[in-house]
Amino acid sequence: MAFFSSSTRQVPDAVAVPDHVAVIMDGNGRWAKSRFLPRFTGHVKGVELVREMVRACLERKIHYLTLFAFSSENWRRPQEEVTMLMQLFAKSLQQEVEKLHRNGVRLRVIGDLSRFDSSLQSLIRDAELGTADNTKLELTIAANYGGRWDIMQAVNKMLAAQPSKRDTWSESDLEPYLSMAFAPEPDLFIRTGGEERISNFLLWQLAYTELYFTKTLWPAFNTTEFDRAILSYQQRERRFGRTSEQLTGQSDA
Ligand code: IPE
Ligand code: IPE
Ligand code: MG
Repeated sequence: MAFFSSSTRQVPDAVAVPDHVAVIMDGNGRWAKSRFLPRFTGHVKGVELVREMVRACLERKIHYLTLFAFSSENWRRPQEEVTMLMQLFAKSLQQEVEKLHRNGVRLRVIGDLSRFDSSLQSLIRDAELGTADNTKLELTIAANYGGRWDIMQAVNKMLAAQPSKRDTWSESDLEPYLSMAFAPEPDLFIRTGGEERISNFLLWQLAYTELYFTKTLWPAFNTTEFDRAILSYQQRERRFGRTSEQLTGQSDA
C-alpha cells in the first residue's frame, strides 16, 4: 500500500492548487426548503454538484477529492430520508461509475459499510474494483463515516497486527490503518451551508488542513465558488508550527 508521510511533519511545496480537497457537502435540505421543495430535491441537486466538482478537479489537476456524503450520525434522521439517501447513493453509483471510469477517476468509499444492505455493498465493491487502475483523480466518498470510528478501527487493526508488541505505539504505527492511508492529508477543507464545524469528519487527517467555510448551500455551490476557496487557500501561509521567517528563508533553522 502506498503510504504518505504526514503533512503535519513535512511542509508540502507551495503549490498552485491543493492536491487534496475534502468537502462537507451541507445545506441540501435548506436549499430545497427555501424553494418550497421536499428535502429529497435538495439531495438530488446535490448529486449534480458532485458531478460538477469532479469535473472541476479533473480540469484543475487536483488529485484527491474526498466528499462527506453520510455521517455515522445521519442515521438519526427520519427513516424516510435515510431510505431515500440510500436509494440515491445506489442509483448514483449505477449511473455514474462508467463515466467516472472513462474519465480516469478511481472511486473509493470509506466508512463502516457493514450497515448498508448487501446490494449497496456489492455496488460499492464493483465500483471500487472497476476503477482501481485509474489515477487521474482519486474520488473518495465518506459514507456511514465518522472520524472517531476511523481512529478506533485503525487502533484495533494496529493492535491485532502486532499483539505481542510491548513498545510505545507511535503515530506512524497507526496511520497505515486509517481509512485515508492511501492519500496525503487534505490541503483544503471546504464546508458549505454556513455551519462552522467538523461534524466528526476526518478528525485525524484535518490536523493541519486549511479550513474554508462558506454560507453557500451545497446545491448552489459552483466552480466560481470553488475557485474562490482555492484562491483563499493559495493566500494562506502553511507554517506547521514554524515561524513565518523560517518559511521565507529569512532566518537559519
Ligand atoms: C447535507 O445536507 C447532506 C447530508 C447530510 C446527507 P443536509 O441534508 O444536512 O442539509 P441541511 O443542513 O438540512 O440544509
Ligand atoms: C454533515 O452534515 C455530514 C454530511 C454532509 C454528510 P450534517 O448536516 O449532518 O451535519 P450536522 O449534524 O448538522 O453537524
Ligand atoms: Mg446539514
